[in-house]
Amino acid sequence: MAMLPRPFDIAALVELLSDAPIVTILGARQVGKTTLARALAPHFPEVHHFDLEDPEDLARLAVPKQALSPLRGLIVIDEVQRQPELFPLLRVLADRIEPGARFLLLGSASLDLVRGASESLAGRVAFMELGGFGLADVGVESSQTLWLRGGLPRAFLARDDASSYRWRGDYIQSVLERDLPALGLRLPADAMRRFWTMLAHYHGQAWNGSELGRAMGVPDAKVRQHLDVLVGTFLVRRLEPWFTNDAKRVVKSPKVYVADTGLLHRLLQLRTHADLTAHPKVGASWEGFCIEAIARRLGARRDELWTWGLHSGAELDLFAKRGTQRLGFEVKLTDAPRVTPSMRSALAALKLDRLYVVHAGAHSFPMEDGIQALALSRLLVDLEPW
Ligand SMILES: Nc1ncnc2c1ncn2[C@@H]1O[C@H](COP(=O)(O)OP(=O)(O)O)[C@@H](O)[C@H]1O
Ligand SMILES: [Mg+2]
Repeated sequence: MAMLPRPFDIAALVELLSDAPIVTILGARQVGKTTLARALAPHFPEVHHFDLEDPEDLARLAVPKQALSPLRGLIVIDEVQRQPELFPLLRVLADRIEPGARFLLLGSASLDLVRGASESLAGRVAFMELGGFGLADVGVESSQTLWLRGGLPRAFLARDDASSYRWRGDYIQSVLERDLPALGLRLPADAMRRFWTMLAHYHGQAWNGSELGRAMGVPDAKVRQHLDVLVGTFLVRRLEPWFTNDAKRVVKSPKVYVADTGLLHRLLQLRTHADLTAHPKVGASWEGFCIEAIARRLGARRDELWTWGLHSGAELDLFAKRGTQRLGFEVKLTDAPRVTPSMRSALAALKLDRLYVVHAGAHSFPMEDGIQALALSRLLVDLEPW
């Protein structure tokens, strides 16, 4: 399979590594973390790679302090969630490290899921979240394939739709049977699969834990825990609700999205474009696809993105806020977007600098004061990164 270079991610990573003694790349399984780390080799005089899922590498790290302290150059510790015991040592090494030695940690679970990680590394670590391929990697001319198959490199680059579909099935299985249990989370694989599949049916909707709990026959708290696991392993995006002044009228549920549309489509058993366009979730799927694309284009962290809605009906798919910048996005799978009263309410209530109506047509154009139609095909041209 051909390699797709990821120059933007490499540049971002090199910059982070020039500032911080420890950089952590977090992202779902198979998004390309290890491959990206290996692509850094030309930027460092020497590179040491330890994969904590490889028994030989584990043996080399049997006495971690002895193994790690003399090393210089780039020291990569892969699948770091496997050994949270290493974090206190890394912290010590980071504090006394000589210039010229850098740690790059790769992990497929957020640090909240890994016991003790956040505390030991606080303040010393720069983070980068890596997703699969995005529009900038594959080019907008491939956006239909990216939408159907998703951005996991192997799924996107597969020979044809059928083999991509098969690969995604195997991926889901190995996450359920191998990766989640390896995090020490005792969750039965079949219950977790049912839950993930139900989430696919809720994709783009307000999260209703009690309803899912009833459907699965488990308590709300358990359902919440399942959700935290899928969010923490970057498989599901949860948009928390933004509270405006009229808190009583604000819808308080988060919205959930299966983060990768390829996995969404596999869970919904949509094999082809024809399957996808005939399915009732096609609009929600496209919405999730656009939200990922926007998040990536802006360079927004997860905690900079929100959803917003009022019980009276006004709502906004995505509210992106950094410092004083406030952008709104409403996603419509149409090529003739129109301004709605709900958009005007969102513009005013959230004091947006601008509201973009992201649509499937060919052109971006102003619609009215503060509201702009943004063609997804023009996203990389018409939306400025933060
Ligand atoms: N930029 C890329 N171009 C082509 N294939 C890639 C790219 N990045 C990753 N892959 C392939 O995707 C798979 C997963 O990549 P890997 O780096 O192992 O992911 P991770 O470390 O996040 O689990 C591997 O088979 C790898 O060869
Ligand atoms: Mg890896």
